[in-house]
Amino acid sequence: MGAPGENTAGNAKRVLRWGVVATGRIAHRVTRDLACLEDAELHAVSSRSEDSARAFAEQHGFALSYHDTPAATGHRQLFADPMVDVVYIATPHAQHFEVARAALNAGKHVLCEKPLTINAREARELVRLAGERGLFLMEAVWTRFLPATRRVLQLIREGEIGAVRWVQADLGFPAVYDPTDRLWDPAAGGGALLDLAVYPLTWAVAALGFPAALKAKGHLNQDGVDVQTTLSLEYPEGAAAQLISSIQAAGPGMVTLSGTAGWIRTGAPLYNPRTVEICGRDGRTRIEEFPEDTEGFIHELRETARCIRAGLQESPLMPWTETVQVMQLLDEARQQLGLRYPNDGVPAGLTADSSPTAGN
Ligand SMILES: NC(=O)c1ccc[n+]([C@@H]2O[C@H](COP(=O)([O-])OP(=O)(O)OC[C@H]3O[C@@H](n4cnc5c(N)ncnc54)[C@H](OP(=O)(O)O)[C@@H]3O)[C@@H](O)[C@H]2O)c1
Repeated sequence: MGAPGENTAGNAKRVLRWGVVATGRIAHRVTRDLACLEDAELHAVSSRSEDSARAFAEQHGFALSYHDTPAATGHRQLFADPMVDVVYIATPHAQHFEVARAALNAGKHVLCEKPLTINAREARELVRLAGERGLFLMEAVWTRFLPATRRVLQLIREGEIGAVRWVQADLGFPAVYDPTDRLWDPAAGGGALLDLAVYPLTWAVAALGFPAALKAKGHLNQDGVDVQTTLSLEYPEGAAAQLISSIQAAGPGMVTLSGTAGWIRTGAPLYNPRTVEICGRDGRTRIEEFPEDTEGFIHELRETARCIRAGLQESPLMPWTETVQVMQLLDEARQQLGLRYPNDGVPAGLTADSSPTAGN
């Protein structure tokens, strides 16, 4: 580990050695794309269970696997491995903070699943720690790195649809109630907000910025998790976003961005669109296509590797400030809904937080 501010963990190396934390559903999917990443070595995986760790390592071709023992958790052993340059964390939301903090404290660069943490206080603390330790940290909001998303944001910047005045997005699916699944478990940060609303919110914040006000309406089930939430974001001069997330109903799963000179609508699902429909200044509608060879996670992985090699601590495509701001909006929504998690802190008020910077 180098001095604070000095980014030392492997950025000059051609091959980055990856560690994967947890062996659940998304870990398998992202690791399949990781195997396609240029100059990446699948070094080690960690799990609470020996069987899962071994099976995962064998299936995906990791050299090593770590698992919980009476002496240390598998994750801690992975972070103590000097060969590991960067870790990808795929535990449930409520564990992101502790696991990412341990990884950063051990001098590892971190790519952590969305949402980065369960509240803005935890997100700020990880950002502070990464900044202090000179390490790369990024929330794995894969949508932000997809070619289709980057194209939409480029079109907006270039004025193709004029000034964006409203954003409308929905993301939902009828999930089967299962109190043992993290989706329904308050202690795991369950509910539609942290699992799904992150994506519509990310689109709104990317297109319109941090709102002047947020109003949340939703329904909590008997366990206290939100099964459906509507977020209304208000901006100066009447600009607005209407965002729905649901774990009780299906929707088209698209985002529409409407501007003073036209509109853009992504294909579904809005977290991984492969088409974009554009009605621009000429009034004609056209469709641009973005075919993929992989599931699409490769873009966040590639951006992670690019930033680490370039000595960046945060990605310009998903800056720390925006991750914290999205968490602030989720905090505010939960406060209005009366939604609290057992291991939650006190949510802060709604003031755009622009403090987290890495100095790069
Ligand atoms: N980017 C995306 O498209 C996407 C999609 C789905 C999920 N996600 C995010 O990825 C995260 C995981 O989701 P998932 O669907 O993969 O969940 P999952 O299937 O429940 O897997 C989570 C894994 O974390 C480990 N784990 C479970 N409880 C733990 C605990 N208390 N402490 C430490 N580790 C624990 C387990 O692995 P071991 O048994 O090996 O320890 C488990 O298999 C969530 O934060 C979610 O928001 C992202």
